Amino acid sequence: MDTGTVRKPGTGNEEFPAEKFQILDERIKEYKGKTGATIRVMSKAQEIFGYLPREVMFRIADGLGIPPVKVYGIATFYSYFSTMPPARHKIISCQGTACYVSGGRQMLEKLERILGIRRGETTPDREFSIHPVRCIGTCALAPVIKIDSEIYSRVSIGKIKKILARYSKKYEEKN
Ligand code: FES
Repeated sequence: MDTGTVRKPGTGNEEFPAEKFQILDERIKEYKGKTGATIRVMSKAQEIFGYLPREVMFRIADGLGIPPVKVYGIATFYSYFSTMPPARHKIISCQGTACYVSGGRQMLEKLERILGIRRGETTPDREFSIHPVRCIGTCALAPVIKIDSEIYSRVSIGKIKKILARYSKKYEEKN
């Protein structure tokens, strides 16, 4: 973990107000010394901040008295944790059996090609992130993708750009 220019952790700023760090400190106190404290605190921190920025990982390490690299290692090992700010639009690409056999895999690959990112990643403009999942419970409508709370059913590869264009002008097709 890069330990370069880091402001004193948790002093607060516009993006990470001091109140959020206070709540985090309370959670650290609550869990310190208990079984699974690191993961439990990290999970709370992600709820509070939306992801695990570097300052927050340092704060957790400091508070629990463990090396920052341990927190960073856990954050990057488990896909549940994110060290990147959340995207404005979260794309869920179903890879359950019904979706997979009706083109779900090709759909996922096409999304990756169009957005220029791999599954689990966020576009550099923070507009989209892609998350494959096992089944979202609408198998009769396969293949399915979900963007935020909207479900798109029987999606064909040719429709993907049109769907993305609803969220970002960048993907509008020029005539
Ligand atoms: S397999 Fe895709 S919704 Fe069930």
